Amino acid sequence: MGKTVKDFLTMKKAGEKITMLTAYDAAMSRLLSNCEVDMLLVGDSLGMVVLGYDSTVPVTMDQMIHHSSAVRRGAPDAFVVGDMPFGSYQTGVRDATKNALRLVKEAGCDAVKLEGGIEVCEVVETLVRSGISVVGHLGLTPQTASQLGGYKVQGKDITGAKKMIEDARALQAAGAFCLVLECVPSELATIISNALEIPTIGIGAGGGCDGQVLVINDLLGMFEKFVPKFVKQYQNLAPEMREGVKQYVAEVKAGDFPAADQSFSCNTDYSELSDD
Ligand code: KIV
Repeated sequence: MGKTVKDFLTMKKAGEKITMLTAYDAAMSRLLSNCEVDMLLVGDSLGMVVLGYDSTVPVTMDQMIHHSSAVRRGAPDAFVVGDMPFGSYQTGVRDATKNALRLVKEAGCDAVKLEGGIEVCEVVETLVRSGISVVGHLGLTPQTASQLGGYKVQGKDITGAKKMIEDARALQAAGAFCLVLECVPSELATIISNALEIPTIGIGAGGGCDGQVLVINDLLGMFEKFVPKFVKQYQNLAPEMREGVKQYVAEVKAGDFPAADQSFSCNTDYSELSDD
């Protein structure tokens, strides 16, 4: 049995750290479901990590549904959060509700995540009233990175920090049950975490958050395009994967693969079928 919203609030109260990792397909979510990860996030980082876009902006609802339902099939008991992609909640509460319901009903997500502060609180309130659990996302919000001056640490000055604290309180009041803090100075993330009853999940926000999230491909060393400062690579799989593929190519070219062990044979006399 997977975790519930209530469990995450209890974990915060008990001081037990929460772990979240991204997953984008059934193979990975099946693997992660044996690793005691508390929450899986089908992030719209999907766009950059899996679909080859330069940002998360082009990701569509249909792509999120496609990948979130695969993650759900691979991990039927996991607590799965699906990202609301850019454009799916900015056009009003009606569209936002329709799209969030798709993530819950079609893809089987337990909760949805959306980016922004006070400006998205009406949407958050409506979703929560409709029975949809919501995760907020503050700090560096990649969907609107161009407005933030790029992929930069947020809340470094007092004005920005005060605004982030206000946004965090507003999201909690609107009913969000959890808050992702991305690229926020550790000191500020700790202040926000201490000010809230709901748990904060940090990515590049230091150890004072109530939990941590990483992109699984970063953690495993499978995404080589760039490695953000906040990433710790627990494995370095990309070179090993390449080495395996190179060996396969070499063995096929040399006629060493497949060998008898990987081949089928039978006792039938096929001699009448061959020309010579
Ligand atoms: O899209 C994503 O993977 C995210 C995490 C980085 C928090 O939003």
